Amino acid sequence: MTDLGPALAEVEAFIADAHAILDAQGGPNEAAFEAIGERMKPLARRKDLEQLRDAAPLPGNRIWSEPDGLTLMLATFPATTAVHTHGTWGVMVGYRGTERYRQWVREDDGTKPGHARLRLYRDIEVSPGDAGWWYPPPSDIHQQLPTDGAVLELILMGTPPSERRLYFDLENDTYVENTPAEQHYRAP
Ligand SMILES: [Fe+2]
Repeated sequence: MTDLGPALAEVEAFIADAHAILDAQGGPNEAAFEAIGERMKPLARRKDLEQLRDAAPLPGNRIWSEPDGLTLMLATFPATTAVHTHGTWGVMVGYRGTERYRQWVREDDGTKPGHARLRLYRDIEVSPGDAGWWYPPPSDIHQQLPTDGAVLELILMGTPPSERRLYFDLENDTYVENTPAEQHYRAP
């Protein structure tokens, strides 16, 4: 059986550094996300993160969870996702496969339930070792579009992802609240 001790130690060191970066940058902002992404890249080169995730005593794709909510996970995207939120910010680094990654910011004031005006902020390709991120709510909006089959990504989120999420219809400037089981891989 593989000794996961070194992987676990590297994860713990990464989490400590992520806390330090957030403190130094004054919270979850663009500078912090860029620095966390750079710091996450060497961790994402480890070949044993799937084993570490599968051995972790945590639900779903989670590798590590901190008391303040900071959560590291190794997530699989088998198909193009709907445009969605998580209720928190996230920084990701590609682990296996390549995807197109799109990130939006919300431009309306949120006062009209079911309606949202989004602005595409980034549209990039994420291959193993490339970083991307999304902002805290209400601009925690993104979409993964795998280009060569299922994609694996290492993702740090500010808190565990919320069970109910917003799913956006870009053509009509609308959204619905739903669960990932109901909606994650299809358009509204
Ligand atoms: Fe997501």
